Amino acid sequence: MTIKEICERFRICGDYTACTQINNGIINKSYLVTYRCDGQERKYLVQRINRAVFRRPDKIMQNVVGVTEFIRAKMLAQGIDPERRVLKYAETADRKNYVLDSEGNYWRLYNFIDDSVVYDEATDAEIIEQVGKAFGEFQNYLSDYDAGSLYVSIPNFHNTRRRYDLFYEAVMVDAEDRAGKVKREIDLCRSHETLATKLSIMAENKEIPLHVTHNDTKSNNVIFDREEKKALAVIDLDTVMPGLVAYDFGDAARFICSDAPEDELDLSKVKFNLEKFRALTKGFVGALKGRLTPIETDTLALGVYTMTVELAVRFLTDYLNGDTYFSTNYPGHNLDRAKCQLALADSVYGKLDAMREIVREYAK
Ligand SMILES: Nc1ncnc2c1ncn2[C@@H]1O[C@H](COP(=O)(O)OP(=O)(O)O)[C@@H](O)[C@H]1O
Ligand SMILES: [Mg+2]
Repeated sequence: MTIKEICERFRICGDYTACTQINNGIINKSYLVTYRCDGQERKYLVQRINRAVFRRPDKIMQNVVGVTEFIRAKMLAQGIDPERRVLKYAETADRKNYVLDSEGNYWRLYNFIDDSVVYDEATDAEIIEQVGKAFGEFQNYLSDYDAGSLYVSIPNFHNTRRRYDLFYEAVMVDAEDRAGKVKREIDLCRSHETLATKLSIMAENKEIPLHVTHNDTKSNNVIFDREEKKALAVIDLDTVMPGLVAYDFGDAARFICSDAPEDELDLSKVKFNLEKFRALTKGFVGALKGRLTPIETDTLALGVYTMTVELAVRFLTDYLNGDTYFSTNYPGHNLDRAKCQLALADSVYGKLDAMREIVREYAK
């Protein structure tokens, strides 16, 4: 099917006029399409859902439509114009939010937020604060959404306890005969185990409430107004699942507040930056003021440490398994990534008290 044919299955006003591919994302294929409706130009984004990653795109669509319509209703009730603030998925004639093409691919169509920009890397404090605010507001809008009603697209995604079990299995099997070379890294992972598995055990014991989490809180999943440097909307919602606020916050901080890329070779450069953390916390926690329970507030900093160690363990597990999950650019790439996350985990660990203090300051 052509993009035009796909578009025509959705119920949208006017005539199709143009289409260009957007090459930014890495998971889904995206196209910008233009329509003319009552003499006015309208822009939409048409996106093919990655079937290799998501087995049940129909269920994913139920999740994303559920949460975006929930947010939209709240915005309308608050007198906020939702047009550029939340995604709106078009429907087909038979009231579905996707089109299934002849090759078995799922497509969706939603509002393109024009005059906007995304930041692949956020280094400026103002931008970091806005990214934090966008994800914090997302959490805030969904704080009373029934997280249990969501389809779990990736089971055990942040079950750190289980990630460790898989890691030990990989060490034992040692499929590529690599474990002997990475004894030091294996021991380092082991040394983090007790503290890094604390959150997932608390979650399992229902000591911390489950909420809707985004699970991909990178800076380029927040759309900004091009002129104003103000965050408009959170996008890339395919991984919304039940989880802990600390997961979203922790993963955002892990990614944004590190001064080095995820595969930095010079480990002396890998440091957790408290100034960036302050900016992110100001935005995120500020947006959730009064919504967080005391235990959630207490565990946000631990979330950063947990997400960092968890990723180190996953990189090292994949290295031991022969690089079957993460795509790599060279042999040993996953090992370098694991070393880098372990260095970051050390830096985070040394700053946990200061981080807790910063969180408390903005939670007041
Ligand atoms: N509604 C939108 N309006 C404007 N640009 C968008 C919109 N949705 C996505 N984009 C652009 O397309 C890119 C990829 O979209 P995204 O949904 O994040 O897919 P991926 O899963 O591939 O990262 C984004 O980084 C952004 O630049
Ligand atoms: Mg994205």
